[in-house]
Amino acid sequence: MCVKIMVIGAGQMGSGIAQVFAQNGYQVLLNDISTEYLDKSISNITGRLKKLVEKEKMTAETMAEILHHLEPTLDLTRAGEAALVMEAATENMEIKKKIFGKVEPYLAPEAILATNTSSIPITELASCTKRPEKVIGMHFMNPVPVMKLVEIIKALQTSEETYQMVYDITVKLGKVPVVVQDSPGFALNRILIPMINEAVYSVYESVADVKAIDSVMKFGANHPMGPLALADLIGLDTCLAIMEILHEQLGDDKYRPCPLLCSYVRAGWLGVKSGRGFYSYQ
Ligand code: CAA
Repeated sequence: MCVKIMVIGAGQMGSGIAQVFAQNGYQVLLNDISTEYLDKSISNITGRLKKLVEKEKMTAETMAEILHHLEPTLDLTRAGEAALVMEAATENMEIKKKIFGKVEPYLAPEAILATNTSSIPITELASCTKRPEKVIGMHFMNPVPVMKLVEIIKALQTSEETYQMVYDITVKLGKVPVVVQDSPGFALNRILIPMINEAVYSVYESVADVKAIDSVMKFGANHPMGPLALADLIGLDTCLAIMEILHEQLGDDKYRPCPLLCSYVRAGWLGVKSGRGFYSYQ
């Protein structure tokens, strides 16, 4: 019998994580608060798998099998069936704590509770549960099916057994696990998001326009996409939330979010997911 996991949150990251687990033989319960979010997620995953079939990178039978491994559900109590529960909801401490509180009573005693947070302290999340030794950070990158890295973040309370199991699962998914400290932004976002913020400042201070800034980094630093296109892909609200955490917790003014980034988020220009960010996606 294959191992069952639950992914909580069917947004961009949750959908990608669910797809990767299903592609690697796990039975996946995909949970969110509305049927609309779940339908959208399954439709996005189906679209991505269809593209792989069209490119002859996957057979139609394999695609059917993967979709069979994915079960959308509104019922959080079904977390009790899972060996691993992956929280991938909005990047907000209060929302994550609320989800942890709601799901904890249903968890099997041996189940691991992992979070895909990109910057929220795992130690604090773990401390709001009665099983902190089974809480861990498992930070996937966007787009999840493509990107190899998974940052593994141990809370102060995480047991060696939990860590080893999550490390082994990550390898089984074909990803590259890298262990990092439970420090603000962990390692990837400590480096990446200030670079994106600096790119936004460069537009704000008229150093060059959006396309030029992206071209500089693509053709001058060999990045696969420019920092502003990448910000649109990550979500400008997520970039701002991470920048605010770095600023608040590390204190230095060099982490101050660019006012232009704040304005775009206030305007609802969040990037690819809202149809407009530094570029238009209509
Ligand atoms: N889902 C699944 N597959 C996708 C995809 C998606 N959203 N987007 C692209 N792909 C696949 C394509 O199907 C294609 O697959 P094949 O090689 O099998 O044909 C492959 O990726 C390459 O795609 P494209 O040819 O369309 O375009 P590209 O070569 O420009 O690659 C990209 C697109 C993979 C996104 C690349 O530009 C890239 O690596 N960009 C940087 C992404 C990055 O830095 N991500 C980390 C963000 S930080 C983060 O996520 C952490 C956080 O907490 C904020």
